[in-house]
Amino acid sequence: MRKNKIIVIGIFVVDLSFKSLKLPKPGETVIGDSYNIGPGGKGSNQCVAIARAGGDVSFIARIGDDQFGKMGLHLYESENVGIEGLIIAKDDKTGSAAISIDKFGMNSIIVVPGASSGLNKKMIDQKVNLFNVSSILLTGFEIPLNTAIYSLKVAKSKKLKTILNPAPFFEIEQESYKLVDYLTPNEHEASVLTKTNIKTIDDARIAGRKICELGVGTSIITMGEKGVLCTRNINDTEGLYFPSFNFPNKVIDTVGAGDVFNGAFATAISEKMSLEESLIFSNKAASLSVRKEGAALSAPYRNKI
Ligand code: RIB
Repeated sequence: MRKNKIIVIGIFVVDLSFKSLKLPKPGETVIGDSYNIGPGGKGSNQCVAIARAGGDVSFIARIGDDQFGKMGLHLYESENVGIEGLIIAKDDKTGSAAISIDKFGMNSIIVVPGASSGLNKKMIDQKVNLFNVSSILLTGFEIPLNTAIYSLKVAKSKKLKTILNPAPFFEIEQESYKLVDYLTPNEHEASVLTKTNIKTIDDARIAGRKICELGVGTSIITMGEKGVLCTRNINDTEGLYFPSFNFPNKVIDTVGAGDVFNGAFATAISEKMSLEESLIFSNKAASLSVRKEGAALSAPYRNKI
């Protein structure tokens, strides 16, 4: 039976995060204030965000049989993320990310996907049963591109709604965008994709229509503290714009905010909320997450959203 289940196909890595007043320039060493070791990887963060937002999620990913991999397994058990789709690779290492965060909560990241780089089409086929009982697929570009595109094809053939978070951004064939119901780039990814320098909401309106021209169903451009702009089709000149929520406590860590947005959005549409409601729900979840440290663990619970 088809349920409101969400499949996420992505990566789990362990984030090594360092906080300092400013980010080091090339060749520079800066003294930091604190560091943290915690769960990360966009797909994995999205799973936690979905589960905390009240969604039913299964994660398809490849991790190593090592200490870092165990951190992932422990996370999914405590966060109620389905692990039927997990592949444990005996001969590969779980990946890791080096994250620098400055005093404004801004970050820069190097991610080494590790075992996730070995996630291939055959493995997606082995997990096809999950597609038969799900209604939404959420994936991105931290896994091999051909695996991401193949998973979108499988999802479409099984009539799932698809969300593609094109992060980090890579060029793909235009044909592949027709497999995407919701494309969710941030303003930097959307700028590169549409060759539009997005600085304002009006720029995002132009870029959103260009994204729809590629064959995507709905474009959703996340713009950090500026909020989110959704373009529903090539003629949607205004779009739906929602500024980010301005809570009294300050922004301390933006790592994973996009993942929380995507996870909460998938949850909302799995519950058949309207597009407007889904955008407000996910925008609020992301605005809450930046007020807490961590990637996966900054995702808010349903009662807070
Ligand atoms: O989106 C944030 C995530 O990107 C981090 O958790 C890091 O692991 C990278 O995948």
